[in-house]
Amino acid sequence: MRVLAHCSPFTFPLFTFHAFANRYSQEREMMMRLGDPPLPGSLDPIETASRDEIAALQTKRLKATLSHAYERVPAYRKKFEAACVHPNDFKRLEDLRKFPFTSKADLRENYPFGLFAVAREKIARIHASSGTTGKPTVVGYTKADLETWAALMARSMRASGARPGMLVHIAYGYGLFTGGLGAHGGAEKLGCGVVPMSGGMTERQVQLIRDFRPDVIMVTPSYMLAILDEFRRVGVDPRASSLKIGVFGAEPWTNSMRTEIEEEFDMHAVDIYGLSEVMGPGVANECVETKDGLHIWEDHFLPEVIDPSTGDVLPEGEKGELVFTSLTKEAMPVIRYRTRDLTRLLPGTARSMRRMEKITGRSDDMMILRGVNVFPTQVEEELLKLDSLSAHYQIVLTRKGRLDEMEILVEARPHAASDDERTAAARRLKQSVKSFIGVTAKVTVAAPGTIERSLGKAKRVIDKRVANSE
Ligand code: DLL
Repeated sequence: MRVLAHCSPFTFPLFTFHAFANRYSQEREMMMRLGDPPLPGSLDPIETASRDEIAALQTKRLKATLSHAYERVPAYRKKFEAACVHPNDFKRLEDLRKFPFTSKADLRENYPFGLFAVAREKIARIHASSGTTGKPTVVGYTKADLETWAALMARSMRASGARPGMLVHIAYGYGLFTGGLGAHGGAEKLGCGVVPMSGGMTERQVQLIRDFRPDVIMVTPSYMLAILDEFRRVGVDPRASSLKIGVFGAEPWTNSMRTEIEEEFDMHAVDIYGLSEVMGPGVANECVETKDGLHIWEDHFLPEVIDPSTGDVLPEGEKGELVFTSLTKEAMPVIRYRTRDLTRLLPGTARSMRRMEKITGRSDDMMILRGVNVFPTQVEEELLKLDSLSAHYQIVLTRKGRLDEMEILVEARPHAASDDERTAAARRLKQSVKSFIGVTAKVTVAAPGTIERSLGKAKRVIDKRVANSE
């Protein structure tokens, strides 16, 4: 084991998992004293606590988490030692900057259970994401982690407008993906009835929505559009459906898409964010009364925004890569996890916890065309300005010689599907992409129903450049 010979001298606290659990439960008691215990469906006291109270709680929890990771996870100990830092160096929240980042590569290198901070026998659930290459990334939860997750999902759903007694149709995929089971635990915790539908079987989705009359739907926004198509195909007015609230996330989506869904279904469309490495859905959520960005549940996750190229922490309000440190996770604490999601931090509004702006995209999804950075969400904004175009689209990247080229493939809406209308729409979209995004794209407006529908997260970018350049 490497020692910190070249670093400043430290004392090593004997910090055990039990100490971590005890400290956490003492804090829970303290939280209860902040106000009456929350009733199902009412606000948690911390949601309206002062910034000082939130910061004090974060400092305490972060100190415990850093020690927990250091004491229990050899990979973290090694990383801390390589960076010459020790949990004792953490005194105030700003000190977190001294600690090294964690990335997806760390999860892969420690596959499958190397980042777990508890014995395998204490793991109550495992989730994993398939990943595009190689091994999946694996995450684990203790029983207490699952309880925290359910409580935060319940808080998120409440912020979205759901209330005990409502019926919730869950069309996020169930299984290793965190969407279905995460939403399920939260809905039950809030006191809602659950229809555990999972993704796919679109005809059946619509039939059950019509028959069971749920109040809330939880699904990716792109799959909601496939459900919308099915309503139309069977000749049923989506505005007459029972749905009042949609809790949409797991992929980037724009405010134009929100308007589209809200108008088509006569419902509220609210944004939910999360990632499996940090917990799953329910890390941050919009409040239905403001819809002005997502409140981060800062009593459990500490956000930072960094410059992705230098790793420097950016001042509040500046856009960069979102980084999270978990504050209460037992099974798999994450320290400064680089999400690759791009956003900015904003002060709280409907709740005292800070907000993150709606995600514009992932750094992985950024396309650079002739020096201009382009995200699929920018293209989405432009195409939804034209009422002849639907929100079903894909971006195909190819390379001719040394130059990258972008083709936007988008479907016409049924009322504007003639050849002439499609040609005119393609011309207009090409112009607005040039004027507002600053790139030249080939635009193809396809007939309605021709672009493949996703059953979960939509694949917006088809990158054919590597194949072409080989
Ligand atoms: O997608 C968890 C989730 C399920 C969130 C259901 C919301 C609803 P992962 O599969 O690990 O977990 O993917 C996480 O999805 O880093 C973002 O890039 C993206 N993402 C998640 N929510 C949003 C959102 C789930 N509201 C990755 N807006 C994240 C934009 C989102 N992107």
